[in-house]
Amino acid sequence: MPAGLVIASNRGPVSFSEGESGQVRMSRGAGGLVAALGSFAATDALWVCAALRDVDRRVARAAPGGRLDQAGYDTGTGPVRMLPIDPLVMRRAYNGIANTTLWFIHHMLYSTPSTPVFDLAWRREWAAYQTYNAAFADSIAEEAGPNGRALVQDYHLSLAPRLLRQRRPDLLIAHFSHTPWAPPDYFSLLPSDVAREVLEGVLGADHAGFLSPRWARAFLDCAEHVLGAAVDRTAMTVRHDGRTTSVGVHPLGIDGPGLRARAAQADVTARVSDLREQTEGCLVISRVDRTELSKNIVRGLAAYRELLRTRPQWQGRVVHVAFAYPSRHDLPEYREYTAAVLRVAAEINDEFATPQWSPVLLGVEDDYARSLAAYRVADVLLVNPIRDGMNLVAKEGPLLSERGCALVLSSEAGAADELGPHCLLVNPFDISGTADALHEALSMPAQQRLTGSRRLAELSVAMPPRAWLDSQLSALAPH
Ligand code: G6P
Repeated sequence: MPAGLVIASNRGPVSFSEGESGQVRMSRGAGGLVAALGSFAATDALWVCAALRDVDRRVARAAPGGRLDQAGYDTGTGPVRMLPIDPLVMRRAYNGIANTTLWFIHHMLYSTPSTPVFDLAWRREWAAYQTYNAAFADSIAEEAGPNGRALVQDYHLSLAPRLLRQRRPDLLIAHFSHTPWAPPDYFSLLPSDVAREVLEGVLGADHAGFLSPRWARAFLDCAEHVLGAAVDRTAMTVRHDGRTTSVGVHPLGIDGPGLRARAAQADVTARVSDLREQTEGCLVISRVDRTELSKNIVRGLAAYRELLRTRPQWQGRVVHVAFAYPSRHDLPEYREYTAAVLRVAAEINDEFATPQWSPVLLGVEDDYARSLAAYRVADVLLVNPIRDGMNLVAKEGPLLSERGCALVLSSEAGAADELGPHCLLVNPFDISGTADALHEALSMPAQQRLTGSRRLAELSVAMPPRAWLDSQLSALAPH
């Protein structure tokens, strides 16, 4: 059956792994899209994603037309087509362009004296990114029914909307960026033909969605300054190449009931008991992140160290629970970053630990139940990214924190739009300022933390994933 709605993203709702005896196991992912699409499972929606690893590719090749549902897998999100893209193309497109170029551009992560470098090798990666985007455009074009809708997700697929429009002009196409968008000067670090291709790729969509007005404005600025497109900031439209694309802001919140139910399960409760024992008699500063350069974990630890140095009264009275689960470890920058996180945490423990007290409890393994437990025990939640599209940790923590947590939040996270008035905002580069904010959060009366946390929790569930998806679909409705 042709799909009335096609969702396309690099990472799909499920992934596969291989047990020791060779049996293949499917795991379902978490996150906004998965939660939103779960509620579409019984409709004519189809999800197109890439096979990320060898085992995913083997499963996808064995399934008829890559259709996992037709191979008998219950993904929980309805039909899924997984594309077994050539591993070399995948590696160059995903590691080289999506995660090392576009992610770095939008999060402004380069150290410009040495990176970026756009040379011959990089051009090979760019060609792979074009091939990868074309593979998605081909598959969506095959799957979508007449006058159907396609929701293309994120920076991995910047070129796909335009390529899809060339193949299927009858479709209504949206693109959604889960990341920030870079301001024009920074965006223009890209070679000019590539900068244009990325913008024109997204503008192939009828609607381009962002998580924050800031990122939408930056996109409009880039369209105007880099592409010379006609931008209407009141109507929020871009006119280019004879077509108009509307630009919208669709903030994403969390699925409150689903998250609460998961956090009440026995595996989480067992970890809460362990953490309570390890932090007994102390206030807890929690943080939960992917081990991701943009999350700014090292500066967060440095701020905690400065707190202990400048306000010694907190020594022995606070524990920093920092859980950073592995991410993108094919990239050397990420492996080095994990090492830096481990090093700074060890330095803090060396400097301050006593036989009765460890100032930092660091975990760098993947343990979702433990992350939820860190939220439940938090008195203070530290979320200090350099730049972040939204940041759902800032929304999940206050909902689950049992005693109520004060939120120390980077002004550079999209979540600051909604949560800013009810939290302690920090400049992510200002370690002393972050230490001050941690001190203020710890010094608040417990009741004040609880009241603030309840307000944050209300705001966090205001736009659950399904409503977020629906708002994009309404923006896409034919005018
Ligand atoms: C960000 C991106 C997502 C991505 C996720 C995890 O949130 O916006 O598109 O899936 O990071 O990164 P990974 O490379 O592991 O998919």
